[in-house]
Formats: sequence, structure tokens, C-alpha cells
Amino acid sequence: MAKGAITGMTRVAAILGHPVGHSISPAMQNAAFKKLGMDVVYVPFEVAPADLGAALKAVRAFGMIGVNITIPHKVAVMRHLDKVDKAARLIGAVNTIVNRGGVLTGYNTDGEGYLKSLSDETGFSPKGKTALILGSGGAARSIAVTLAMKGVGRIVIANRTITKARALTALINKNFKGVAAMPCCSADADMLRNVDLVVNTTSLGMKGKFVKQSPLFLAGVNPKAVISDIVYNPEMTVFLKDAKRRGLKIHKGLGMLIYQGALGFGLWTGKAAPVAIMARAAKKALR
Ligand code: ATR
Repeated sequence: MAKGAITGMTRVAAILGHPVGHSISPAMQNAAFKKLGMDVVYVPFEVAPADLGAALKAVRAFGMIGVNITIPHKVAVMRHLDKVDKAARLIGAVNTIVNRGGVLTGYNTDGEGYLKSLSDETGFSPKGKTALILGSGGAARSIAVTLAMKGVGRIVIANRTITKARALTALINKNFKGVAAMPCCSADADMLRNVDLVVNTTSLGMKGKFVKQSPLFLAGVNPKAVISDIVYNPEMTVFLKDAKRRGLKIHKGLGMLIYQGALGFGLWTGKAAPVAIMARAAKKALR
């Protein structure tokens, strides 16, 4: 039997999304299963919103080891699960599901993947620090909740739609007594002088119509701050280029994608993910 061939024993993992064709998770996860010599194949499934419940039944029926969930199903999938982990419940979204004998448990590895990548690449530790989050969508929620769980001191949230920034602020203040969260305008000079981490979670800087836009003017920002962007295509956004020009420490977006997958791999298999192999596969798939 050729190495990597599908056998009668092969198990299946998958990503469910709509659209899902652009996903680099299959390349990344299959490289990891292959590296560890595991008889698992990871496939993309295009699932329309109306079919999400049926797709989750199939996860059980086919004895799949687990699945990733992507746009637009991360919130809607929660009602089809047997259990939801605490962080995912607070974030209000699931990106990873583990099938343990037909019992489906939902997790969210986005925020933890983000912080793992940030700490690996820049040495940043959130304890007692001040973070400015630009944006208030799903990614911002996962990062804000995870920063709060890891003991960040203060979270300032700036967003085009202020009501969403206020809602995220309220979520953090309600659930994390030791953390002070507040909504803010991005041009608060005093706050920028004292910030330790600025993270862009908005679409600004993404390949396409937003590619030339930066979410924040960095003049006056704390020279020791880490400037982070979760946009990974292009690798160097205008925001990160500006930060680099100013001599600030930068953190690129691809690491979050790799580590959210690595954490999912760990949840499915109980094994340490081969992160370097996954990173190489992700970069190759993006090219
Ligand atoms: P994700 O799941 O990646 O977080 P999302 O939930 O769609 O994606 O959130 C996108 C974020 O980018 C939001 O904060 C959004 O701001 P609004 O809440 O005001 O919609 C922000 N965003 C998108 N386009 C933007 C633009 N042109 N200018 C400023 N912010 C923008």
C-alpha cells in the first residue's frame, strides 16, 4: 500500500463553509496528518446555510474525527452541537468541532491561535497590558475574549460601527472583573502613547478593494508597542509597512491561521501538531 493511500480504515476530517474553495486548511491539515503518519484525510465541503444541520448529522453518521467551521456558519453551528467549550460560548462562535463517539463539542481556537502566534513571534505576554483592538466582528471577539482570559489589563475597542464596539466592551466587562474594557475613537493620543498592542481585525488592508487602506494612523503610538494585523493576504499590509517604517515591532496575520489549525489538530488527535510543516503547507497553498 502506497504511503498516504486511502484504505478501509481511513478516517475523515473536514472544513464546512460557503464558500470554502479558497481555504488553505486542507493543505495545512493533510500535511500534518501525513507528517504524523496518520490514516486521516481532510476534505473541504461546500455547505449552504440550509444544509448545516444535515451536514452536522453527517459528521456523526460518517464517524468523522472532527471538522472546522468557517464563514458563514461559525455562529449558526452552535445550536447543532452537544457541548460548547467556555471560550467558544463567550466568543459566541465555533471554528472547531471534535466528534467523541457521536458527541459533538465545539471550540474556538481563533483567539488562542492568535495569542500563541503573537507570543511565539514577538514574545508578547498579555498580563496587565493595554490592547487596542480595531474592529468588532467575529475575529475581534475571539481575540478580546482570549486576551481577557489571559489576564490583559485593559482593552480599548475602536470600530466603524460604535454600537458593535460597545457590545463587545460590555461582554468583556460583564465576564471579566479584572479587565477594564472601553470603546474608543482611534485618535485618542493619550491612549496611543500607553498602548502595548494594536491589532487590526478589520478588512482594511486585505487584497482587493481595501488593499491600500490602513485602519489607523500610527503617529504618537508607544514606540514599544507591538503592531499586529490578522490580515494575511497580502503578507505585509499598508498598516504593517507603516509600523515597520516607524521602527515598531510587527506581527503578521498568517500565524493566527496556522495556530488555530494547529490547536484544532491537537484537539482531534491528542497529539502535538507539526507546526513548521503546517506553516510550510499554508504558505505554499497561498502562493
Ligand atoms: P471577521 O469575522 O473577520 O471579524 P466581520 O465579523 O465581518 O469579520 O468583521 C469585520 C470588521 O471589519 C468589522 O469590525 C467591520 O466594521 P463594522 O462593524 O462597522 O461593519 C470592519 N470593517 C469592514 N469594512 C470596513 C471599512 N470599510 N471601514 C472600517 N471598518 C470596516
